[in-house]
Amino acid sequence: MSNLHGKNKAKHVVSLFRRIAHNYDLLNTLMSAGRHHSWRKQAVKMLKLPEQKEGISLDVATGTGDFSIEISKLENVKKVFGIDFAKEMVVLAHKKSQKLSTMNQDFFYLQADALFLPFRNDVFQYVTIGFGIRNFYDLSKGLSEVRRVLKDDGELAILEIVKHEKNIFSKIFFRCFDFAAPLLGYIFARDRSAYKYLTKSAEMFFTANELTNYMDNQGFKIVSKKSLAFGNVSILICMKK
Ligand SMILES: C[S@@+](CC[C@H](N)C(=O)[O-])C[C@H]1O[C@@H](n2cnc3c(N)ncnc32)[C@H](O)[C@@H]1O
Repeated sequence: MSNLHGKNKAKHVVSLFRRIAHNYDLLNTLMSAGRHHSWRKQAVKMLKLPEQKEGISLDVATGTGDFSIEISKLENVKKVFGIDFAKEMVVLAHKKSQKLSTMNQDFFYLQADALFLPFRNDVFQYVTIGFGIRNFYDLSKGLSEVRRVLKDDGELAILEIVKHEKNIFSKIFFRCFDFAAPLLGYIFARDRSAYKYLTKSAEMFFTANELTNYMDNQGFKIVSKKSLAFGNVSILICMKK
């Protein structure tokens, strides 16, 4: 997996997420001890909501749509788009949003590659990406696409698992995750390797500080950030520089 780059990584990642799509929500809840909903809620709360302007939101690498549903609860968000390159995820996200009959928002889910977003420039007030960027097969290209479609006063919320820092609690937490995720993947989805990939990809990704610097180099200023799960999960709120 460490050798995967470019198109090979894209093929590997899309087939992995197509395979685990139907168990994704359950495993997410088990692996995060039920915390993942609260993490997305916290990320949405950190947005500045400029003058409560009405806007459209885009959830990139939406999976089963949880981040898109969370941001749709903001009063000034009237339309929510979600894209993912795994067809099964898009179908599940659509079904989930259909069940929210009490909500006024319109949801639109599309099968698309984050590196080639099918949208015009400067249209989204918010872009969210939950546990997505470390799976991009070209992170720089993915972020340049986000930058392109984000409005000048728009905000990008990133929620991601990051490489543990060198503190003991962070290391212990990561070791537990590294042990438990493939085991849970095997028990509940008969797919140990998919969940081993998820932990390995986190181990090979940036630390929280490295991610902040990277975003800065990709043309984003960091508006606020938060560290969760003993430093193993990060929220970054960014704007275009
Ligand atoms: C770990 S899941 C995260 C799902 C969801 N955002 C969440 O918060 O739970 C990662 C998702 O990213 C998608 N993904 C990875 N690379 C992508 C790309 N280049 N274009 C579109 N989707 C991508 C995968 O198909 C998968 O559904």
